[in-house]
Amino acid sequence: MLRKLSIQVKYLFVFVLAILMVLGAFLVGMQSLKVQQLRNEATTVAEQVVSFRAWIASFGVVWTEKQHPDFPDYLGKRVDVDGNIFVSKNPALATRELSNIVSKSATRATFRVTSDEYRNPANAPDGFEKESIAQFKRDSKQKYAETFEGGFYRYSTPIMVKEACLRCHGKVEDAPPEVIAKYGSERAFGYKVGDVRGIISVRLPDITIHEVLGTFVNLYTIGLIVIAFLLNFLYTQLGIINRLKELTTKTINISKGQMDQELPLVDNSSDEIDKATHSVDLLRKSLVVTMKHFG
Ligand code: HEC
Repeated sequence: MLRKLSIQVKYLFVFVLAILMVLGAFLVGMQSLKVQQLRNEATTVAEQVVSFRAWIASFGVVWTEKQHPDFPDYLGKRVDVDGNIFVSKNPALATRELSNIVSKSATRATFRVTSDEYRNPANAPDGFEKESIAQFKRDSKQKYAETFEGGFYRYSTPIMVKEACLRCHGKVEDAPPEVIAKYGSERAFGYKVGDVRGIISVRLPDITIHEVLGTFVNLYTIGLIVIAFLLNFLYTQLGIINRLKELTTKTINISKGQMDQELPLVDNSSDEIDKATHSVDLLRKSLVVTMKHFG
């Protein structure tokens, strides 16, 4: 079937197939670039959260005089001599507050801190988060976990227990009374330095195929593909097909006895059509000799 199609059509098939394969390779490349980009973005967010927590952990807690209206939660409370009320916030509580503020603003990334052993039910992990905590506990070398879920890119990175955390997550006896008073002595104690205490979980909107295509379907790329098609068409038409047609016509004329055909002979050429032209010329010459012999 296909064999009988013209060279132009066959070549067009091959060309379109080749273009599609190149585009496919390009899309696969873009896909991994996209994941890399999302991962970098999430890593930056997580690193900032880590620094923020480390800053608070270096004091144990931070004290604030005023409360954020949307966030009345605190760990301890003190009243100074003038009757001003101060409340304290530990790293996780402050992170939860920051996370709430970030979620309400128009940023792309949202984050939270969670753990398999959570003190606050608001910090309970979901499926992806549970699975990543289990992975980090199994393999201490694993630096992050990621997945795509419901139009989001999800990323998590472990939070390790450091010396400063032991005050509230080590032995129950060492814990500040506010912690025991608020959360009891059951949960999230008994950790050692280096243990996986929980994770920072980051969520980013996935970059859709629409957006990926949008970045490389533009006037320049379309223009280049059109030029590639034109070049291909011109080459097959002028460089192959027209020359073959001419050779065919002249060969038929020779077969009819018109020996004076002008054949476009090129010496020492590697071009296959030039070689075929030479063969036709040889055939013509031997025909002339034979005709003289019998003439
Ligand atoms: C001053 C006491 C205190 C210190 C110091 C402290 N934590 Fe906590 N941590 C808490 C309390 C209280 C909670 C529950 C917070 C909440 O309500 O969200 C908590 C919660 C957490 C959570 C969230 C899961 C949960 O239990 O709800 C993680 C993860 C965590 N802490 C890790 C750490 C790490 C890591 C450090 C050291 C860098 C640290 N904490 C230092 C008191 C502390």
